[in-house]
Amino acid sequence: MTDLLRVHNVSKRFERLQAVDNVSLIVPAGQIVGLIGPNGSGKSTLFALLSGSQRAESGRIEFDGHDITHRSPDQIFQLGLVRSYQDPALFTRMTVLDNVLLPVKDQLGENPGLAPLHRIWRKQERDIASAAGALLDRVMLRRHYKTLASDLSGGQMKLLQLGRSLNGSARMLLLDEPTAGVAPKLARDIFHLVEALRREQGLTFLIIEHRLDVLFDFVDDVYVMHAGRVVAQGTAADIAANAQVREIYFGD
Ligand SMILES: Nc1ncnc2c1ncn2[C@@H]1O[C@H](COP(=O)(O)OP(=O)(O)OP(=O)(O)O)[C@@H](O)[C@H]1O
Ligand SMILES: [Mg+2]
Repeated sequence: MTDLLRVHNVSKRFERLQAVDNVSLIVPAGQIVGLIGPNGSGKSTLFALLSGSQRAESGRIEFDGHDITHRSPDQIFQLGLVRSYQDPALFTRMTVLDNVLLPVKDQLGENPGLAPLHRIWRKQERDIASAAGALLDRVMLRRHYKTLASDLSGGQMKLLQLGRSLNGSARMLLLDEPTAGVAPKLARDIFHLVEALRREQGLTFLIIEHRLDVLFDFVDDVYVMHAGRVVAQGTAADIAANAQVREIYFGD
């Protein structure tokens, strides 16, 4: 099994707060790995370092053999490492369909030199539209394709966000609380979708989640953060039984 993501001793400080403190973790290709920890433990900041929106001040991040520690968010996205945000980063005044069409890479019609050559890009546009339809089917939103993103329910917004992350040659998704604010049944559906995407498209996942009851049914491996550090790693069963984790996480 090859490691798709390797994080070595990465740190990030905000003034006097050590938000991420010497964190190392590995995500093998094709796995679903959970990242848990109390509020403010540094999980989202770690995602910001992985996706390039914040710079690590020390350590090294490798994705698919590339050193991405100092790459831009766009370069990291192009390599196929795609982050979804804790607050849905949707274009709320656009339709569901436009939201999934937006991240498509390398559209020929956008190249000014090729724009006049309709015949070349018309087929590509048709292919993109049909892929977008399939994608909306996959995230259970096809019948809402004309709906404005702002009119979706919380759970539907999460699904749309997941759909948007998929549409860009993604190889690995960083999902930040994909079920936050979502009804319990839909929370499970979202994880079933993650599992299906892994199976069908070979995607790899690192998922921040507070709903441990759901997360633990789907993950291969779990990392626990506390005060910026990784304090435990193991299977869901290991983590559920870990006394230190129970103390910091569940307060027993
Ligand atoms: N841009 C920033 N500037 C200053 N402090 C920040 C910044 N981003 C995060 N922090 C602080 O860093 C710490 C870690 O925050 P982070 O958002 O990574 O936690 P988290 O584990 O994702 O928490 P939650 O579960 O609540 O989402 C917090 O104390 C937070 O206030
Ligand atoms: Mg967070």
